[in-house]
Amino acid sequence: MGRYTDPEFARLEFDKLWSSVWQVAARVDEIPQTGDYTTYKIGDQSILLVRVDESSIKAYYNFCPHRGTTLGEGCGHYEGGRIICPFHGWRWDLAGNIEKVLERNEFHGGNLQDSDVAMREVVSRVYAGFVFINLDPNPQPFDTFIEPLRQYFDDIVLGDMRHIWWKRATIPCNWKVAQEAFFEAYHVSATHPQLEKVGREVVYGDRDDGPMMYRDIIYDTFDQGHGQFWGGDKTPIAGHVQEPAPADDRLQEMAARMNLTAEGLGGMILKQDIDLLLTLKDRNLPPDANLGAEYVKLQYATAAAQDRPMPKMSPEVIARWGGVTYLFPNILVLLQAGNAVIYRALPHPSDPNQCTFEIRSTKTYPAAEALQRATVEEVTDPKQVGLIPQQDLSNLPRIQEGLLSRGMQQTWLASNQEKLILNMHREEDRYLCS
Ligand code: FES
Ligand SMILES: [Fe+2]
Repeated sequence: MGRYTDPEFARLEFDKLWSSVWQVAARVDEIPQTGDYTTYKIGDQSILLVRVDESSIKAYYNFCPHRGTTLGEGCGHYEGGRIICPFHGWRWDLAGNIEKVLERNEFHGGNLQDSDVAMREVVSRVYAGFVFINLDPNPQPFDTFIEPLRQYFDDIVLGDMRHIWWKRATIPCNWKVAQEAFFEAYHVSATHPQLEKVGREVVYGDRDDGPMMYRDIIYDTFDQGHGQFWGGDKTPIAGHVQEPAPADDRLQEMAARMNLTAEGLGGMILKQDIDLLLTLKDRNLPPDANLGAEYVKLQYATAAAQDRPMPKMSPEVIARWGGVTYLFPNILVLLQAGNAVIYRALPHPSDPNQCTFEIRSTKTYPAAEALQRATVEEVTDPKQVGLIPQQDLSNLPRIQEGLLSRGMQQTWLASNQEKLILNMHREEDRYLCS
């Protein structure tokens, strides 16, 4: 259980995993304007991310070469493109070149070179709307790292997704416990009984068995620790219903079902998607109409009229709507029609029994709309997140407490439905043992 609880193990993770893995430091719309900056903290390291111009972002170690002061705290904007140290006023341009050292002759016998005091860059890469960084100056090629997910992220236009909202909470559990709560749908019956009628009756009622949705879910693990699961054509979004019924009734059922996510998560499915679905009522669809297919057509036609990017219109991509994609080591992407919820779990710098967990609701916007700056809201009351994440998050402190129990000697993982967890830990071990 030490993987989740032992401070030594957490230190090993900082030394071997976080120091050499590609990791998401930010989304690009956290720093949309030239001169905007934000900071990313991992372990005891703070990284400064700066928008240098419209097309480039740089990452720097967040320190002043004079006597150490950090050059940015939280997020902000460098007026006039000047990065100024608040202690003695040394100054750099956004590209990290030194512009001003007060009383320069006093340093290094008057021979201070610009390169001695330039800002120190961290390897970074912008892809799919994420700013990735790597603390290893000679990291694994980014393309190798992202290869298993690249096609999918390109197809779903993840790079065009921008924030609707972004929330952050401190949770008393290990960062891996937090993310693993989203690695499978096996927990849905017990944790989210409102989402799974039959499962609820099996778990909380007297029923023994039945057609539980989660059994149809397809789980895939990839190289580099990544993974994915989705419901295929059995999902409600694909028009799947358990009992045949007239089209109008099925439409209401589908809307009610989508509303559980729209209201319960406040993202992934939006109110406007449900309003759009309900306009199908006016079309006098035949009783056996495929509502899922009609809904998808309507989504694409509406988005095209607004010049709003949408996921590639292919059966493979549409089958994954409603699914979850895991980007090693700590990002989850939950996709819908041009919307995605993105989770990130970050380790606490010293306590393995705590982490930071973030939820971002994003969508694609019509091309003409200006890029707004994303800002985070700190969650202190569970009511600040929807019912679905509330249910997930309420398990986490209990899991951590149980993992600390002296009576607990191992966990048991379902061979198919929990295989993303095993795949993640195998990949983590590859880093830790290198
Ligand atoms: S510490 Fe930054 S200018 Fe002195
Ligand atoms: Fe959940």
